[in-house]
Amino acid sequence: MTTDLYCVMGHPVAHSRSPWIHARFAELTGQQLHYDKRDIAPGDFARSVHAFIEEGGRGCNITVPFKFEAAKIASRTSERGLLGRACNVLTFRDGQILADNTDGIGLVNDIERNAGLSLKGLRLLLIGAGGAAAGVLGPLLQAGPAHISVANRTQHKAAELVARHLPLAAQHQTELEAHTLHGFAAPFDVIINATATSLSGAGVPVEAHVLKPRALACDMMYGPASQGFLDWARAHGATPRDGLGMLVEQAAEAFLIWRGVRPPSAQVLAELRAVIAGGH
Ligand code: ATR
Repeated sequence: MTTDLYCVMGHPVAHSRSPWIHARFAELTGQQLHYDKRDIAPGDFARSVHAFIEEGGRGCNITVPFKFEAAKIASRTSERGLLGRACNVLTFRDGQILADNTDGIGLVNDIERNAGLSLKGLRLLLIGAGGAAAGVLGPLLQAGPAHISVANRTQHKAAELVARHLPLAAQHQTELEAHTLHGFAAPFDVIINATATSLSGAGVPVEAHVLKPRALACDMMYGPASQGFLDWARAHGATPRDGLGMLVEQAAEAFLIWRGVRPPSAQVLAELRAVIAGGH
């Protein structure tokens, strides 16, 4: 029997945790597969995907900076991939390239299952209107919050992202509005940082009064890139949550698409936290 091949493609990918996560999923579900990482030179993405298919690749995860290109090279793209205009999962099946985005459902599952907070009826603030924010807004709306404000430094980008999601918001009876980074009328139960401001040392782009007491404050990054935001959240009485759970949960959804089996993601998240805490 041949082993099914998968990989993560990105640039850079040296520090990607995805091979570890998928190897653990495979072990725990008894699936035979091999998953590695491939650093792809900018401009070489489409060729690399086709070369991987030739090698026998069954699917891959796509990370920065190729998520937009991934959506474009697909034969078919899921509804959530179309709405986010970016994809993080490709599946190669019957000569077709199927593209999907599991980042948003990964974030929602991390908040609702791992952090134990149902988003239904809550007030959410999504900070940022770039690719990361676009990838999660649809699934956040599908979780049925009462309100989502999308706040961005460049106003027209928030307005465009919101306009594209208004039909979905109406379907879920969620109030959805674009906002600047200042002057919010009321605080939020959950705030999600989809900017990379901690990484650039730019500081948190909103004021602390956006936080209700004990609000959940999530950063989509993990490790040093999320530290500034998490420290800020903790200092202002919020519950900080990094993006490691989202990483594991988006991987779990990809694994489900590829293998038809849901891996024990909470267990793998706990193990990964222990591995990282141990300095590995
Ligand atoms: P990604 O794919 O990671 O989302 P992106 O598409 O470049 O990357 O988007 C980056 C996001 O971070 C944008 O929302 C950006 O705001 P602008 O649209 O105004 O550029 C936001 N961002 C980056 N640096 C920022 C800063 N110093 N203050 C506030 N927002 C910032």
